[in-house]
Amino acid sequence: MAAIAPGPRGHFLLGNLPDLRTRPAAFLAESQASFGDVVRFSFGGKIAHLVSSPSGIRHVLQTNAKNYTKNTPGVQKLKAILGEGLLTSDGDFWLRQRRIAQPAFHKERLATFMDLIDRHAEALCARWRASAACAEPVEAHREMMALTLTIVGEALFGADVAADAPTVARALDEILHVQDARFTRALPLPTWLPVEENLRFRRAKAALDDVCWRMIRARRASSSGGNDLLAMLMDARDPETGQGMTDDQLRDEVVTLFVSGHETTANALSYALALLGTHPEEQEALALSASSDFPHGVTCAAAYRWAPVDRVVSESLRLYPPGWLFARSPKEDDVIDGFAIPQHSFVFVSAWVVHRKESLWPRASAFEPARFATPPTDRFAYFPFSGGPRQCIGIGFAEMEMHAILSRIARAFRWRSEGPVPAVDPKVTLRPRTEISLRLEERVAASR
Ligand code: HEM
Repeated sequence: MAAIAPGPRGHFLLGNLPDLRTRPAAFLAESQASFGDVVRFSFGGKIAHLVSSPSGIRHVLQTNAKNYTKNTPGVQKLKAILGEGLLTSDGDFWLRQRRIAQPAFHKERLATFMDLIDRHAEALCARWRASAACAEPVEAHREMMALTLTIVGEALFGADVAADAPTVARALDEILHVQDARFTRALPLPTWLPVEENLRFRRAKAALDDVCWRMIRARRASSSGGNDLLAMLMDARDPETGQGMTDDQLRDEVVTLFVSGHETTANALSYALALLGTHPEEQEALALSASSDFPHGVTCAAAYRWAPVDRVVSESLRLYPPGWLFARSPKEDDVIDGFAIPQHSFVFVSAWVVHRKESLWPRASAFEPARFATPPTDRFAYFPFSGGPRQCIGIGFAEMEMHAILSRIARAFRWRSEGPVPAVDPKVTLRPRTEISLRLEERVAASR
């Protein structure tokens, strides 16, 4: 018979909820360190396990993935924003939507986005040159959010959303804040109550929806169908009924891809800039390689598979994985690493915890891009994009974008962070708790 996994004692009524609510990232990491790779928690009568061995994670995400649904409280709450989009749906519906969207992320299709990424990255560098010239610091997180939003809007939906960046950023902040409060509250507050929190949430959601509906309506109204993801979603037909997506389904996919396609990438880039801004030796090494490998300037095509930037991005994603925690629920009883996992309980998998385990990553808290000169020992010791059938659909897009932007910045500027690497704000995604102010100095202007 499978054993009951060990775990921390909690509050007599609320179990481990107060710790998870107030300090989730630290609490999960400490629990793994104290109790091992399968830790049992209780949350007001519900059982959950944190699984942190590569073998256990492979089991949940890949080998026995069919037994694990996304029917968890976190995903249910996300549905209030994302509806039944790719990230939150399950089963046959999810599979059909994934098959429709997948071709938009194929290699050949990604290559068509390179010019626009180059264009927007260059525009950022031009603005940063002006800031460097008058010794003004730049706010990296705000800048990266606007940049990645603009890129995803144009690449996937053929829309110019640059002017909407501040509205979307504010709406997302608000939504994540309220979601977090809702997720961790012991007694749920009905969402229909007209209290301040619910009203703020509704306003923020309406602002985000408005941007997405505008993109959909503009396309419906235009005579050219376009050749992007939005066109694919609009043209898709159910093989059995021959029907296309309803406007609401379309809206769910657009909001999902719009949100998951920029916020994660912006957080990852922000931490990479902060880490390089506090590790001048790594920054110089990257800049030196960039100027010798790309004497005439960096392009997205050249940076995509460029090893030095890949190592920096991988190491940043190891230390600060934006998708830091995700949950599943087993349809049937299961056993993981010898421990009983009851049906309909919850299983947590945390890249934040696993990427910082000393047994897998010696000197785990140090920023050492060189460690990625050799691939990780186990596929599931490193999974910033998850794995198995529900692996991130946007990996190629995100890598291409991050590599291009970071290589270009590294070649153009020398920068210092004004403070230490910011602490994490672990909400649905892992965000920097404070803004990242960078002081820039332009490298040799002639080498642009
Ligand atoms: C550094 C950037 C990114 C990171 C770290 C990241 C991480 C992740 C993770 C961990 C998941 C799995 C979540 C779960 O299983 O609960 C995921 C799923 C997903 N990601 Fe990403 N992502 C990134 C960029 C992107 C981009 C650029 C797009 C789209 C343009 C995107 C779209 C999605 C979608 C649609 C899903 C759901 C896939 C499915 O279940 O079929 N992501 N991402």
